[in-house]
Amino acid sequence: MLTGSPIITVDGITKHFGKRNEIEALKGVTFSVRKGEVFGLLGPNGSGKTTLIRILNCIFEPTSGTAVVNGHDLRDKDGVKRSTGLLAENPGLYERLSPREYLEFVGALYDVDKAALGERVPKLLAMFGLDHRSDDLIEGFSKGMRQKVLIAAALVHDPPIIFLDEPTSALDPRASLVVRDLIRDLSSQAGKTVFVSSHILPIMEEVCDRMAIINEGKIVALGTVEEIVAKVGATSLEQAFLELTGGRERVDLLSWRDPVGAT
Ligand SMILES: Nc1ncnc2c1ncn2[C@@H]1O[C@H](COP(=O)(O)OP(=O)(O)OP(=O)(O)O)[C@@H](O)[C@H]1O
Ligand SMILES: [Mg+2]
Repeated sequence: MLTGSPIITVDGITKHFGKRNEIEALKGVTFSVRKGEVFGLLGPNGSGKTTLIRILNCIFEPTSGTAVVNGHDLRDKDGVKRSTGLLAENPGLYERLSPREYLEFVGALYDVDKAALGERVPKLLAMFGLDHRSDDLIEGFSKGMRQKVLIAAALVHDPPIIFLDEPTSALDPRASLVVRDLIRDLSSQAGKTVFVSSHILPIMEEVCDRMAIINEGKIVALGTVEEIVAKVGATSLEQAFLELTGGRERVDLLSWRDPVGAT
């Protein structure tokens, strides 16, 4: 049972988008993440996960509400950014750099000591089997290879908190297992706090100490998998997820077709 003190506290965060602020992506989100835990964020497409992660990394400002990340209020952008590593959902990558150059560039941005970088970068690339491609340009990399470089970049300054937004979405089964084990090791051996969002429920179930389920911009459940499953009287996380995010009604998936007999 984790009893760590909070390292992230989120208090009443809202975020509105659109010309008239009509899109309410987050509708008052409050929770905290304990130091050293793996905290998962689960939710349907468009429920606000990426928006929340962006706010907690100072990429967006909230419409209202506050958060403290590793002792830094969101207004202290530099303090927050130095506390976190982020695998973003749709990041830009410097196509004309090699992965080695890219990781050295990111490391330099965070003032990582040159000698430490020289040791760390090859090890990070080797972790994902990219060591033989260290000096090839990223522009020739496959989607999954890019994702590996970006995960390495989120770690290169060895921050206390690591945010991973859909870390395995482009990865093959073996690389997904590496990421799963990496998340566990970062927490259990390196004492890091990992905040992860993913739709892959078995991985989330395995790695997360606690998780929040978010639906339409509101947290609808928070706790361990067992607590969440018990809360709705479900038998699995998948069933609990479906119950908590709109029920399990079966819709007619072929209603878009011409009426039967017309073709
Ligand atoms: N820059 C933006 N401009 C306008 N609307 C936005 C913007 N970013 C997010 N939204 C809206 O906020 C809502 C939440 O989006 P968000 O990307 O946070 O969802 P998500 O939970 O990460 O979904 P997914 O599982 O598909 O990644 C959506 O309605 C989306 O259209
Ligand atoms: Mg998202």
